[in-house]
Amino acid sequence: MDKIIIKGGRRLEGRIPISGAKNSALTLLPCALLTDEPLTLRNLPRLADVDGFGHLLNQLGVSTMIEGARPEDFGRVMTLRAGRLTSTVAPYDMVRKMRASILVLGPLLARAGEATVSLPGGCAIGNRPIDLHLKALEALGAEIELTAGYVRAVAPKGGLRGGHINFPVVSVGATENALMTAVLAKGTTVIDNAAREPEIVDLCRCLVAMGASIEGIGSEKLTIHGKDRLHGATYRVMPDRIEAGSYACAAAITGGSVDLVGANAEDMTAILDMLVQTGAHVEVKGDVIHVSASGRLKPVNISTAPYPAFPTDMQAQFMAMLALADGVSVLTETIFENRYMHVPELARMGADIQVTGRSAVVRGVDKLVGAPVMATDLRASMSLILAGLVAEGETQVSRVYHLDRGYERLEEKLQAVGADIERVGSD
Ligand code: UD1
Repeated sequence: MDKIIIKGGRRLEGRIPISGAKNSALTLLPCALLTDEPLTLRNLPRLADVDGFGHLLNQLGVSTMIEGARPEDFGRVMTLRAGRLTSTVAPYDMVRKMRASILVLGPLLARAGEATVSLPGGCAIGNRPIDLHLKALEALGAEIELTAGYVRAVAPKGGLRGGHINFPVVSVGATENALMTAVLAKGTTVIDNAAREPEIVDLCRCLVAMGASIEGIGSEKLTIHGKDRLHGATYRVMPDRIEAGSYACAAAITGGSVDLVGANAEDMTAILDMLVQTGAHVEVKGDVIHVSASGRLKPVNISTAPYPAFPTDMQAQFMAMLALADGVSVLTETIFENRYMHVPELARMGADIQVTGRSAVVRGVDKLVGAPVMATDLRASMSLILAGLVAEGETQVSRVYHLDRGYERLEEKLQAVGADIERVGSD
């Protein structure tokens, strides 16, 4: 398996292009199931998860065509067409590798009247149940059956009907499945306590471009007037706010000066505010976010929570930064119960972090030292890359496949701003 090798201590300077958002792509791709007409998605990031989702859709009978993507380009254009579905089953082998596969459940049910999807099971960052997804579909009249590790959802005679969905907990995925189902249900659906993440707004906009009627976009109450059918559309995936946030941390932790090009600062308020609190300098000009820093960063206290608050997907990266801050920071993770898997690895590089329950106390140290490290999830892997960028000596990050799931050509982007980073195949 490949490894990434970083020699720390380089100050990053220059421009980093920001790719299309992974989490947005993973909910826009299944929208292709909702119509027999072509859906063209632009600015799709080149990521293992996007490829994986394409293969899953192929298995369901969706054709996928990639256009005009030159190898040197970031992002690509994909046209998907679900003229006729050939299967309504998302098998274990697919779902196991990619949790987001659960997002075919709603659209398959809405289009074909039935869907069978393997239960995703636990994952490295916690238990991650799908009860809220299932409750939402039940509210629209679906019958749900759980057997042999699979969930089967079937529409009632006469089809799905609009209903009232009130989520007890904010869930991005459950809101997405609910939306993609309700757009084809008869009548009106109201979703209360909907997730407000920018990726949800992106999904709503794409569905509207396909002919859906949705009110309250961007708010916690969404009202959907179901349509008999949706049509094709062309839609551009939003910029990845977590990728941009991660590279903003790379600039800050190395005392660098970086322009994040093609980013959307409006989606990143909590992240950028927190960066400013650490003493980094942030300036926004159109779609370019300039981040620079010098000297030691200041400690901050962070609590993750649903959007618009600070995202759980940035917790690990900020932790790497705060490991070197001038004082004590407290991080509290309120979304996932097991999202501190990077802590022991950062500790091996010299970080002083103590986890008690949902909180982590980070005592800033003077320096980190390179070491062989590995991570169990995507953002944790990125926090190790960030630590490696400033650590003394060499850091080897293994299990690179986590990074390939969510960071388009990571080492190329970091090399271009001066990092000493390379990928090597292990023997
Ligand atoms: C999405 C993102 C992920 C991000 C997360 C929170 C994608 C592909 N992934 O994940 O990167 O970290 O949002 O912003 O977009 N929950 C339940 N029952 C459910 C569903 C969720 O109890 O049926 C709980 C979860 O365990 C968690 C919380 O709700 O504690 C939020 O999870 P959710 O927003 O659903 O995360 P995902 O959609 O899986």
